[in-house]
Amino acid sequence: MGKRITDKVTWVGKTDWELRRFHGDEFSTHHGSSYNAYLIRDEKTVLVDTVWLPYDKEFVSDLKREVDLKTIDAIVVNHGEVDHSGSLSALLREIPGTPVYCTQNAVKSLTGQYHEEWNLKPVKTGDTLSLGTSTLTFIEAPMLHWPDTMFTYMDGENILFSNDGFGQHYASEFLFNDQVDQAELYAEAEKYFANILAPFCPMVTRKINEILGMNLPLDMICPSHGIIWRDNPSQIVEQYLKWADRYQVNQITIVYDTMWNATRHMAQAIAEGIVSADPEATVKLLCASKADKTDIVTEVFRSRAVLVGSPTVNGGYLYAIAGILELIRGMKFKGKKAAAFGSYGWSGEAVKMMNEELKKAGFDVVDDGVRQTWNPSGDELEQLRAYGRELAQKLK
Ligand code: FEO
Repeated sequence: MGKRITDKVTWVGKTDWELRRFHGDEFSTHHGSSYNAYLIRDEKTVLVDTVWLPYDKEFVSDLKREVDLKTIDAIVVNHGEVDHSGSLSALLREIPGTPVYCTQNAVKSLTGQYHEEWNLKPVKTGDTLSLGTSTLTFIEAPMLHWPDTMFTYMDGENILFSNDGFGQHYASEFLFNDQVDQAELYAEAEKYFANILAPFCPMVTRKINEILGMNLPLDMICPSHGIIWRDNPSQIVEQYLKWADRYQVNQITIVYDTMWNATRHMAQAIAEGIVSADPEATVKLLCASKADKTDIVTEVFRSRAVLVGSPTVNGGYLYAIAGILELIRGMKFKGKKAAAFGSYGWSGEAVKMMNEELKKAGFDVVDDGVRQTWNPSGDELEQLRAYGRELAQKLK
């Protein structure tokens, strides 16, 4: 059912309370999500985005109750990923030939995914679509987060339809930011940035500054996931500029995995040393095979340093650590320090290999790391605490 945003704009999306995994199994969505689509009724009627493919019939059926589909003059596709374009096939079967405005790159992504002969109308930054009393202006936003992404600005209502940008995987029966729990909202917005937008920080900064330079009046930001920023929408824009600028708080995150607890004991002893030498720092220990991987990436995003620990197994490190190293490599984090540690029985290659991967991922690796044969004795645990105290200084 549609929900009123303004006299001219109605939310016609899908709130997905059940969603727990997104992008296949890559992204955890502890608070569900929503796929936001917006119906604009001026002299012309325009739909901005659709919803994820599994809900296409539900979407079209709900939309029919909101509007006579034949009165839809145009569809705007801000981004071709299936969570927003997935209902186009079902919708365009009902209203074939309806013009679909999108970027040139979205022509590729839509054609490549759906193989349909749609009436695609590629647009560039600055192109407009007059709706009568209001005008839509298209703003290409490549790599926020796909090459095909664009934003659409509606004057009069002063709304920026920002697609994934400024979004959160956050299901709510409410529409607006001032109606929901602020801690939950910001935690989900940060997790979204850390896992979706972090690799593209320079583009985020450039695009936001470009839009700010356009001096567009802004009453609302309507993203394609989660709640709408109505109360002081600039707050999330300012927060994005901070997140995109080598963001970190005073946190050290220790990500480890363990087979028979030797590496876990190492992690705990090193943490004790760090805490005793640097009591101001937040220190978190996360077991890579047990903690949620999306949450681990978020913790690394906000950390000024990360320690990675694994025993040596089969001449390498554990599977869960390999996954985390690959995830954080892709995030292109900047300005973070790192170190590695791990136990071994025979050969002990893992620490050197993890250090190499951390360097390749752009981390400033502060030493050669620390290795421990078998399980640490009482004296060896004390040496690990001493190493933690020494490391705390190197990580500053
Ligand atoms: Fe929400 Fe990139 O799709």
